[in-house]
Amino acid sequence: LTTSSAAGQFAGKHIVITAGPTREALDPVRYISNHSSGKMGFAIAEAARAAGASVTLIAGPVTLPTPAGCTRVDVLSAKDMHEACMAAVGDADIFIATAAVADYRAQDVQSQKIKKSNDELTLTFVKNPDILASVSALSSGPFTVGFAAESTNVADYARDKLKRKNLDMIAANDITASGLGFNSDNNALHVFWAQGDKQLSAKPKKDLATELLGIVLERYQYKNN
Ligand code: CTP
Ligand code: CA
Repeated sequence: LTTSSAAGQFAGKHIVITAGPTREALDPVRYISNHSSGKMGFAIAEAARAAGASVTLIAGPVTLPTPAGCTRVDVLSAKDMHEACMAAVGDADIFIATAAVADYRAQDVQSQKIKKSNDELTLTFVKNPDILASVSALSSGPFTVGFAAESTNVADYARDKLKRKNLDMIAANDITASGLGFNSDNNALHVFWAQGDKQLSAKPKKDLATELLGIVLERYQYKNN
């Protein structure tokens, strides 16, 4: 997508985007979560809307304003996000999963505040549903785009997730690159699909979002023609 030609390129398309962290309760006052800011997903939502898409943004707890014209669904836990996504993707053309979904949740959420007692505390966690894999498993579901934040072997892990989750595309970033990624306003991505890949150099997430959507559109059209 070039800025001058972006208008209308996604007209008539419904894009569902997950963004931000999830929050998994331990007791009434505590939770586990992660440092995801939601900025990449919100930037993609804004760029997709600017390109004419109807956008549903399913957001974990973040402090960002809703991009103009996007429908926002706020959720906390991975289970809530999973439910909201399955409800939203019925008529979706494209699903983009930027959320940093907690892989595990506490097996038992304590109804009372956990009291300090022994020197060690052991909690048991169980696996959360994989939202992206659930969407890609739908028959005649949307074109699926995953994200992969990796600290080593970025390309190998990304290609593995592309295959394992049966995705149409995956955008990987190296979280060890300084000043990029989590919480930053800038990011760089290495995008993979079955037949190829493209490296998007470091730039503001807003510009990166537009560039990424250009590749999504190209691959989406290739798949659906
Ligand atoms: N994802 C998801 N639901 C989950 C976990 C991940 O939808 N329960 C999505 C993320 O939004 C991202 C992609 O799957 O688009 C890859 O997430 P990632 O955490 O990198 O992959 P995992 O399969 O969880 O593997 P790991 O954390 O071990 O690297
Ligand atoms: Ca994970």
